[in-house]
Amino acid sequence: MSFPESRPRRLRRTEAIRKLVCETRLHPSQFIYPVFVSETIKKPEPIGSMPGLYNFPVKEAAREADRAYKLGIPGVILFGTPAEKDASGSASLKTDGIIQQAIREIKNLNPEILVATDVCLCEYTDHGHCGLISGDEVDNDATIQVLAAQAVSHAEAGADIVAPSDMMDGRVAAIRSMLDAGGFDDRIIMAYSAKYCSAFYGPFRDAVDSAPRFGDRRGYQMDPPNAREALKEIELDLEEGADIVMVKPALSYLDIICRVKDTFDVPLAAYNVSGEYSMIKLAGKENLIDEKRLILEVLTSIKRAGADIIISYFAPDVAEWL
Ligand code: PBG
Repeated sequence: MSFPESRPRRLRRTEAIRKLVCETRLHPSQFIYPVFVSETIKKPEPIGSMPGLYNFPVKEAAREADRAYKLGIPGVILFGTPAEKDASGSASLKTDGIIQQAIREIKNLNPEILVATDVCLCEYTDHGHCGLISGDEVDNDATIQVLAAQAVSHAEAGADIVAPSDMMDGRVAAIRSMLDAGGFDDRIIMAYSAKYCSAFYGPFRDAVDSAPRFGDRRGYQMDPPNAREALKEIELDLEEGADIVMVKPALSYLDIICRVKDTFDVPLAAYNVSGEYSMIKLAGKENLIDEKRLILEVLTSIKRAGADIIISYFAPDVAEWL
């Protein structure tokens, strides 16, 4: 049947009809909210590169997580700035490290909040790379042992989900085996599987002071032109024991989200990263766009592409609107 019998506009005529035939819906329960916690501050400090967001001391970070939870967001993912950085990122392994403290504080305040942690070294190393340096390279095999120890330390503090974001080879298997050996076979691994080497991370690196002091991350994060390779990375992480896989960033990689969704039948997360956040906030401030509509449109597109879970700095705002 074609025009004039077929008239697709019939299904767009009123708000009620549009609601009825809507194919993609956002819900607060699909979100994870990233929270920044810092050992170097006494009160919340605005993050200059990410308008509207803060670095929190431990207590306030727990309150922020609880605020999001009360809006219907199941959980947070934590990023930490330690008091001291060194070559091996040793602050990331401390029982009373900044993330370990924050996990305990959140669980004390409200044990129902799902706590995920970013497992990586870049926030803890003085050189800003995601692993241990040997010569001028990141030493893959030495790094994954430290990452696994970090994951266990987060699990001991009470983390429900550990999320390795380093892009070393074999880290999911190393983490799974060390978690299991430590009695944490119930903890989830959400792998940043297809993490691209992206300029969209700029504002985040300002927030946690994690920009590499020499070189860049092209030797471990994925090259933006590659799609087939993303499927390979996902496949490997699943074989190694990942429970949830992730594509990051989200917006320039909707095709990857879609392909991963079509290929693998597992929960898929997408990370709506700092640059994607700040571009909208700044354009909104200048009144160049309708900020609220744009946020909802962007997040809906990530969902429509196939993400089951969206990690987004907009999560609490969206939860309030929905
Ligand atoms: C690495 C990490 C990064 C982000 C999350 N985990 C930065 C990087 O790889 O340089 C970026 C998140 C964002 O931009 O919102 N630990």
